Amino acid sequence: MENLLLHQRVLQLSLSATLQMQARAKALKDQGISVVALSAGEPDFETPKVIVEAAKQALDKGVSRYTAVRGSDELIKAMQLKFLRDQKVSYGPLQVLSTVGAKSAIAMALESVAGPGDEVIVLAPFWVSYPEQVRLAGAKPIIVSASAEQNYIHTAAMIKAAITKNTRAIILNSPNNPTGAVFSEQVLREIMEVFVGTAVWVISDEIYEHLVFDEEKHVSPASFSPDAYARTVVISGASKGYAMTGWRIGVVGGPLAIVDAMVKLQQQRYSCIASISQAAAAFALQETPELKSEIEKMRGAYQTRRDEVMRMLKNLPGVTCIKPKGAFYAFLDFSKWMGKMHKGALIDNDDILAMRLLNEAHVAVVSGAAFGAPGCVRLSIASSLPDITEGMKRIQTWLE
Ligand SMILES: Cc1ncc(COP(=O)(O)O)c(C=O)c1O
Repeated sequence: MENLLLHQRVLQLSLSATLQMQARAKALKDQGISVVALSAGEPDFETPKVIVEAAKQALDKGVSRYTAVRGSDELIKAMQLKFLRDQKVSYGPLQVLSTVGAKSAIAMALESVAGPGDEVIVLAPFWVSYPEQVRLAGAKPIIVSASAEQNYIHTAAMIKAAITKNTRAIILNSPNNPTGAVFSEQVLREIMEVFVGTAVWVISDEIYEHLVFDEEKHVSPASFSPDAYARTVVISGASKGYAMTGWRIGVVGGPLAIVDAMVKLQQQRYSCIASISQAAAAFALQETPELKSEIEKMRGAYQTRRDEVMRMLKNLPGVTCIKPKGAFYAFLDFSKWMGKMHKGALIDNDDILAMRLLNEAHVAVVSGAAFGAPGCVRLSIASSLPDITEGMKRIQTWLE
């Protein structure tokens, strides 16, 4: 059996730190321990009833067949309207595609433009899957890190310095997982200017576009200029804003060439996304007034929870956090605790910190190293307010 080898491609792959932490928390819960799980990147809200109704009606109508690779006619129309309304960009029917979540869209976008010998710029702190997906495409992730002092916002100059003759793409993610940073229009414009005259694609992951707080506004870099439009592929979806993680709906809009390439990849891999999910997405993307108020309720709840985390943060000695302006995470900086003895054991790094918070304080968070930011932990605010308050209290008690 020794000759049955697995390929390096999978042997080198890391497991998702977020999913691992969820599994560990569940194992403790199964032993009867009360764990406050603040690790998951998924809404605690149910999918709004109006969307579920649309899916039920589709089922009753027998919508149970393969569709065109990019999606049903009604979903294509809904995606076009969505990109016009939210991203302020106009895409023809051949410039949009529905995918198995935003995750498969990012993977297919990367595979469409990068391969061995190529580089893809990934801005840290980053979503855990980006570097792994770049490697799966055969390319090399080039990590450009912004610090907490910079509010985790990268400057155009930092990005310019990372471009080489091998750079094929950059992944932008605003609002950001894990930091909650929202890149301002001005910063995004400056970043997009850097690429003028280059052959660099911009993969703009806008999955958290619905979740911006206070006076923040979501803007898509694809809308800035003809140059930006021609090099940007926009990726969004239903998972976060509509609380539909399990439905697996991603939406893509972009220049014909890259969308065509992604359609080819999808055709050979998945054929199309589930027809019932498509019917639900075609309805959801229209954002009827009733649905819009549901979306707003969820957004408001995340903002209240964010405020609670910021209020309770003052009780955590030596811990800081940049106020999240979007998405549903708080990225707590524990740098001052690294290398310190606490309760008779050394906190070597954030992995150990996250494990000790789980085992000793019974709070599940994800270590920052997985996001390219050692010394930090990510706390999800996509959990109920009482859970967040209890989780913060437990961390406080443990630190004291
Ligand atoms: C930044 C970012 N992009 C993409 C995704 C994937 O979303 P989906 O569930 O639609 O595949 C996630 C999910 O956690 C995310 O945080």
